[in-house]
Amino acid sequence: MKADNIVEFCFLAEPTDVNFGGKVHGGMVMKWIDQASYACAAKWSKRYSVTVSANGIRFIRPILVGQMVQVTARIVHTGKSSMHIYVVVRSGDPKENKYVVTNRCFITFMAKDEAGYPARVDTFTPVSDEDKRLEEVAMEAKDFAKQLDKDFEEKLGWK
Ligand SMILES: CC(C)(COP(=O)(O)OP(=O)(O)OC[C@H]1O[C@@H](n2cnc3c(N)ncnc32)[C@H](O)[C@@H]1OP(=O)(O)O)[C@@H](O)C(=O)NCCC(=O)NCCS
Repeated sequence: MKADNIVEFCFLAEPTDVNFGGKVHGGMVMKWIDQASYACAAKWSKRYSVTVSANGIRFIRPILVGQMVQVTARIVHTGKSSMHIYVVVRSGDPKENKYVVTNRCFITFMAKDEAGYPARVDTFTPVSDEDKRLEEVAMEAKDFAKQLDKDFEEKLGWK
């Protein structure tokens, strides 16, 4: 059983997941990221949670049909109602036990109460040095995403 802040999905990339070039659709990978991080947010908060923002999603390598896919979502920071999650996607041939990183991103969820209002979540406290650094990077990504919101509003007049 994984720790309370971690959820991992493992499955095979199917023919219905791929585009004409035989590679998994980017949108499919985003769906897997959203699903694994929803499961991670729900596990941590024990509540229904909604996606607030996906920050810094990166497509590093393609995933091929028939490959084993591993999507790991872990809480790296919590706010009042927000849960900031690091997601890494790896894939590889199931006959060999070698995986490469194909995607990574930060994704933020907000826990909701029964009436749909933001619900407080338990605080996640990073312990290892790596967890502390990951939290720091997640906060930089959040600040950048919030600055983008501000720029759209203030520089372009888009609400
Ligand atoms: C998600 C939603 C409720 C947020 O409402 P909001 O008023 O903009 O929320 P806030 O600005 O108060 O931000 C909420 C939290 O997210 C954090 N946040 C806001 N923008 C963020 C961003 N770009 N990146 C990371 N975190 C962010 C805030 O810091 C805040 O954290 P806190 O609760 O710990 O203080 C609202 O935007 C919404 O309903 N969006 C649609 C959600 C949806 O349909 N998702 C897909 C289906 S689940």
